[in-house]
Amino acid sequence: MSEIEVSIRNLELFKFPISNPKYKIKPLELTHKDNPSQNERLSLEKKYHDLFLAKFDWRQLVTYVPNKNIPVYNWFKYKEGFSRELVIQIAKEFALKKGDIIFDPFAGCGTTLLASKELGLHGLGIDILPTAVFITKVKLIEWGNIELLKQSVKQLISIPYHKPESKFPDDVKIVNLAFSHDIQQEILFFKDEIEKFKQPVRDFLMLGLLSILESVSNTSKDGQFLRLVKKSIPSVRIILNSVLLEMVSDLKKIKILGLLKPSPKKMFVKEGDARDLCIPKKYWGKVSAVVTSPPYLNRYDYSRTYALELCLLSAKSHKDMVNIRHSLLRSHIESRECSASQITLPVLDEILREVKSKPLNNNRLPIMIKGYFEDMNLVIKQLATYLKPNGRVALVVANAQFAGENVPTDLILCELAQCYGLTTESIWVTRYKGNSSQQMAIYGRRPVRETIVFWRKK
Ligand SMILES: C[S@@+](CC[C@H](N)C(=O)[O-])C[C@H]1O[C@@H](n2cnc3c(N)ncnc32)[C@H](O)[C@@H]1O
Repeated sequence: MSEIEVSIRNLELFKFPISNPKYKIKPLELTHKDNPSQNERLSLEKKYHDLFLAKFDWRQLVTYVPNKNIPVYNWFKYKEGFSRELVIQIAKEFALKKGDIIFDPFAGCGTTLLASKELGLHGLGIDILPTAVFITKVKLIEWGNIELLKQSVKQLISIPYHKPESKFPDDVKIVNLAFSHDIQQEILFFKDEIEKFKQPVRDFLMLGLLSILESVSNTSKDGQFLRLVKKSIPSVRIILNSVLLEMVSDLKKIKILGLLKPSPKKMFVKEGDARDLCIPKKYWGKVSAVVTSPPYLNRYDYSRTYALELCLLSAKSHKDMVNIRHSLLRSHIESRECSASQITLPVLDEILREVKSKPLNNNRLPIMIKGYFEDMNLVIKQLATYLKPNGRVALVVANAQFAGENVPTDLILCELAQCYGLTTESIWVTRYKGNSSQQMAIYGRRPVRETIVFWRKK
């Protein structure tokens, strides 16, 4: 069997079994009704009770896992991403037609945009992380001359090593912990050489280099932080060569499969803040669907997880890294208090009161929780501006738990959406996520749900 035939067989993995009928679910959160300090949360659970549907067969679709075998989609492992299949199924559910505008305000590694391209939709995306936008842009490039790419890889890999001119920021500690001096020099040598290539070949090669950083480092991406691990480090040259050749071969595969064909509409992706009105005015009131997943309220910090990639690509100093950290949606513990958007929700007051009354392992937790919903309030406000009447939203989100207090993120966001004329139509529960072992030891096993929330603009 030829290499391409094998790949095509592998691509059968694209098709995910989604046969389970939707069935009604009793929200788990309602079972903890012994505590009067949860009154506001219980009444929210009751308010939305009839809208819950169990969709546990979608549990993998809300993760990046199904993308791992899909050429181009898998060019950079973005653990926080969702799958191509999710976007395709939601586009079906929304009965989107060719040319409809679909928007992802938290575009990540570009899955919504790539799938939109496949479906002939007009995709718009923004993300605040320069690395995410770069990855998405490169994946969306329409490659004419694949042979030129192959030649360029060969040329790059055959250049003998010499001392690089560029440097990593010397005040970002994690870089020196992650890479030995020799590995740093090798990475920077390739960076310098890649920068001599013309566009778009240069970006293609740079994405290859970005995508191997974790594997040539002593780190492993672990949500909140980059965990330091001991491992044997392969040669940068060998691994870069193999990754780049795989990327070239992916382009051949997708050509044969007719995937990601040139789109009549140019996809739009840029750096931006989802809390601002960040897409050109000509699209306001024209968007048919938003398919997205915001950062979860789980303390993960994208500027730490992607610190190595940021340092290679754009950050020049520790100060740059801190600026990025503070620009992110306030879903992490180093979020700053700000008074830009005040919201009044009795349920949020209840959560903050209860969390503050408990012993906390970090005093900044209440600031983060409050900031998260203030920020999401702004995001939802802007989404309502972009959507056309009857426009739909599918938002993948997970609830949280701090000091044993449940935070029903999905329902709080539904309450905010209601303020901007977005009606909740349905809430699909895709899985329950366990609480941390630390929390479990104190408060017992209390899984929280991960859901897809569906809204429609009036
Ligand atoms: C859960 S991930 C989205 C993953 C994406 N759905 C995918 O499949 O790749 C959340 C994204 O939100 C981005 N982000 C964080 N704060 C943001 C903000 N204020 N505006 C826009 N994007 C932001 C992060 O950089 C991250 O890429």
